[in-house]
Amino acid sequence: MACSKNCAPETPLRPCSRSSTASSSTLATALRAGDASPALLQEFNSLKQHLGYGLLLKRHTQKVTDATPEQIHRAALDTIPNVGVMFWSFRIMVGLGFYMLALIAVSFYFCAKREFDRKRWLLKLIVFSMPAPWIAAELGWIVAEYGRQPWSIGEVLPTLLASSTLSTWDLIGSISAIVLLYTVFMIAAAYLMVKYVRLGPSSLHTGRYFFEQPKAAL
Ligand code: HEM
Repeated sequence: MACSKNCAPETPLRPCSRSSTASSSTLATALRAGDASPALLQEFNSLKQHLGYGLLLKRHTQKVTDATPEQIHRAALDTIPNVGVMFWSFRIMVGLGFYMLALIAVSFYFCAKREFDRKRWLLKLIVFSMPAPWIAAELGWIVAEYGRQPWSIGEVLPTLLASSTLSTWDLIGSISAIVLLYTVFMIAAAYLMVKYVRLGPSSLHTGRYFFEQPKAAL
């Protein structure tokens, strides 16, 4: 719907529809107040696709029906993501994905040739690559979560209105408990890993490893 007057410039993302967003917001308020007449419901259904855009205005004004052109313009700008963050997060994630595939292929090749344990550079590279899946997963999370802003439900519910009503201290309390718990897990895991790496595979007593071989066979 093109804008007639008193409206922010159209963005390339969505044509301006000031009157429909304002009307859908007014209708939603009436519905929430308990008016369930079929006419109102029908009118709301015909305009509800604009409601999300009306709600985006809540960041700039509490009364969206009286939003100024400047506020509408700022709400429209909120829908444009930071391209640099998305561009690099996505490409580094995909790059790491292909890097790990290549690492698996090279490792498989040397395993098949039974030369794997003699390729020190490869063993070192694998150890230094351990954070790669974690970094890729975090970047993927940024692609998915940051990329969908400002929406919690695309074009329906802005994040601003979907965020939790928990207090700052609720959040600090729960995040501290999680950090504490996983720090304990991390210390326990690191302790066990170091312990069993030091003991070596012969601690499994399978008879297959270096220190378990008869002297003559070494
Ligand atoms: C060829 C490589 C890859 C491609 C093409 C790719 C593609 C994508 C795309 C398109 C998304 C966004 C999905 C959305 O819109 O919700 C995504 C999300 C994600 N990616 Fe990747 N990805 C790749 C590699 C990886 C790797 C190697 C990891 C981790 C080891 C990873 C972890 C994730 C995670 C955790 C998400 C967020 C999922 C969510 O919360 O919905 N990706 N990926």
